[in-house]
Amino acid sequence: MAVANLTGREELKDSPDKVKTSLTGIERDQYIKGKALFAKEGFCITCHQADGNGLPMSGFPPLHGTKWVTGSQDRLIKVVLKGLHGPMEVNGTKFPGQVPMTPFEGMLSDEEVAAVLTYVRNSFGNKASSVSKEKVKAVRAASESKKAFYAPAELLQEFPLEK
Ligand code: HEC
Repeated sequence: MAVANLTGREELKDSPDKVKTSLTGIERDQYIKGKALFAKEGFCITCHQADGNGLPMSGFPPLHGTKWVTGSQDRLIKVVLKGLHGPMEVNGTKFPGQVPMTPFEGMLSDEEVAAVLTYVRNSFGNKASSVSKEKVKAVRAASESKKAFYAPAELLQEFPLEK
């Protein structure tokens, strides 16, 4: 009983709303950190919304039910580092791609990209592997010469969407 109470209090200390995740250990720490980054003003939440539903009418696609989020880590890391600009389809809805997605390479460290992506890959009903900072570091190094904004078609050619 005492242990349960203590755990409850520690959760409150970590995050104002109780953190609900089945992740444990380092992955759980990443999730908590990623959740806070996601919700920072001007970051993911501003366009994709707290529930990950996006705002399709404004050109912001959802972050659930799509392999863009739960599929290839390389593709997902590249989206966040370089931003995205161009027509695409997410969960059967067409996005004309007039609104670009912000490139975050100058705003987020490897560790922070790993945390925010571990959060989105395990939120809004998603369940996928966590992302390590070593993985982000490798993708960042490999795409150093790439200027901002991938076109969705360009990324899909390199990493076809999983079935
Ligand atoms: C300024 C608004 C904006 C912000 C901030 C933003 N995005 Fe996006 N995001 C977009 C738009 C717009 C697209 C679609 C781009 C297109 O149509 O080419 C997109 C597409 C995506 C996609 C691929 C499509 C999908 O819905 O799965 C992912 C994944 C994604 N964003 C994740 C993130 C994450 C994670 C963050 C925070 C680190 C973030 N975005 C921040 C606007 C934004």
